[in-house]
Amino acid sequence: MRRETSASRRRHRKTGPALCQWGSAVLNRSLFSSASGEWGTPQAVFNALDAEFGPFDLDPCATVENAKCPRYYTQEDDGLLQPWYGRVFVNPPYGRAIGRWIQKCHAAVRQSAKLVVALLPSRTDTAWWHDYVMKADEIRFIRGRLSFTRDDGLRIRAPFPSAIVVWRPPC
Ligand SMILES: C[S@@+](CC[C@H](N)C(=O)[O-])C[C@H]1O[C@@H](n2cnc3c(N)ncnc32)[C@H](O)[C@@H]1O
Repeated sequence: MRRETSASRRRHRKTGPALCQWGSAVLNRSLFSSASGEWGTPQAVFNALDAEFGPFDLDPCATVENAKCPRYYTQEDDGLLQPWYGRVFVNPPYGRAIGRWIQKCHAAVRQSAKLVVALLPSRTDTAWWHDYVMKADEIRFIRGRLSFTRDDGLRIRAPFPSAIVVWRPPC
């Protein structure tokens, strides 16, 4: 058994473990980093949602490589500051600003959007979940874990559960 020294414990606290062991795979911590935000929606999941709720018009948080809709906003545009319209599909960046994205999902159907469907990490203890997801029209908890796609094509099984959340305009 390896024991942590106090120096390695301090390093750990600051940076987290350098490697995460997960099943048979040993993956660099950066692959798991929710801060990187590049958890691309699995195409099969998007296709199923697009068939049920779409066709989607807008992906407000994307890169040129991972955009799921013909119209999209990138970090440069800042999708949080842009108008959302039509049928919107959202898989938000998982960093600290995620609460602002969920607030925007909730607000967008009260302003300009016809429908917002979001693929979210199922973080049921957060303020944004309580404040905005609990006011959504539908929440579907996904059984098991999704395998997300990075911009370089690598697929990574998520270390977190996910949910599909649907907001519709108030009647
Ligand atoms: C979880 S990924 C989803 C990617 C893609 N839309 C999909 O569903 O597969 C979140 C994306 O949001 C982008 N992003 C981060 N901040 C943004 C911002 N302020 N405005 C628009 N896009 C942003 C990231 O570059 C990243 O590609």
